[in-house]
Amino acid sequence: MRRDLDKLAAYYADAPDDISLADVDLGRVPGHVSIIMDGNGRWAQARGLDRSEGHVAGVDSLRETVTTSVRLGVDALSVYAFSTENWKRPQKEVNLLMHLFATTLLKELPLFHQENVRLRFLGDLTQLPAETRAVFQEGLDETADHDGMTFALAVNYGSRAEIVRACRGIAQDVAAGKMSADDVDEELFSSRLYTAGMRDPDLLIRTSGELRLSNYLLWQLAYTEFYVTDTLWPDFDRWEYLRAVRSFQGRNRRFGGVTGK
Ligand code: IPE
Ligand code: IPE
Ligand code: MG
Repeated sequence: MRRDLDKLAAYYADAPDDISLADVDLGRVPGHVSIIMDGNGRWAQARGLDRSEGHVAGVDSLRETVTTSVRLGVDALSVYAFSTENWKRPQKEVNLLMHLFATTLLKELPLFHQENVRLRFLGDLTQLPAETRAVFQEGLDETADHDGMTFALAVNYGSRAEIVRACRGIAQDVAAGKMSADDVDEELFSSRLYTAGMRDPDLLIRTSGELRLSNYLLWQLAYTEFYVTDTLWPDFDRWEYLRAVRSFQGRNRRFGGVTGK
């Protein structure tokens, strides 16, 4: 844990009335935080702006969220940026998002270097525009030797598609005689998902108040604690993040048992 406490205290100066750094236990920060970043469109609409302006504003929230995660000592941050269902949106919005992913990633590479963040992607990237894919590959190559926080961006991600893909791969391996059906257990199955090697999320945050998963990490969220806030994604900041962590630390995670906290 390379948390810099002085830096963290400065980062969390000027606290609002309801929350401060002292309200969380830095020894029990969730290891993997996952976020469904929702509400960009409503944020823009409320200001009489085009939805695209909401997505642009959402990038600033994401940058702050990456920084906050690093400062708090989170091991892995994963965020839902584009679902397999989001292709249904107007072509103009899809194009804007794909372009935004590429330009943002390029722009933020220095931040990933500075904070020692390692990038990975969750989802089927083969369907993305070539420009976006090329930049994503550059991001992977450039951060491959970083050993700080893992930042996983879910793009063209759908949990059902992920599970079907894993099943197909396993079935093919069994058919080819590479393994037996008896070898299939939870650990093997997990290793066939896009999140292979990552611990399951400890805390899932969804912004904009929606009480649904929208096809996100159905397998991985089996025992994750949920925090839903009405705050729209472009308004999500380090303080809202802290409120989520405080809420998480007040939970009793039983994992089906009767004890434990
Ligand atoms: C989340 O904001 C961003 C993406 C899904 C890419 P939305 O665009 O879903 O915003 P709302 O839900 O319409 O307000
Ligand atoms: C979920 O948000 C997907 C992402 C945040 C990328 P949506 O806005 O697509 O979800 P629904 O349509 O409200 O369920
Ligand atoms: Mg939405």
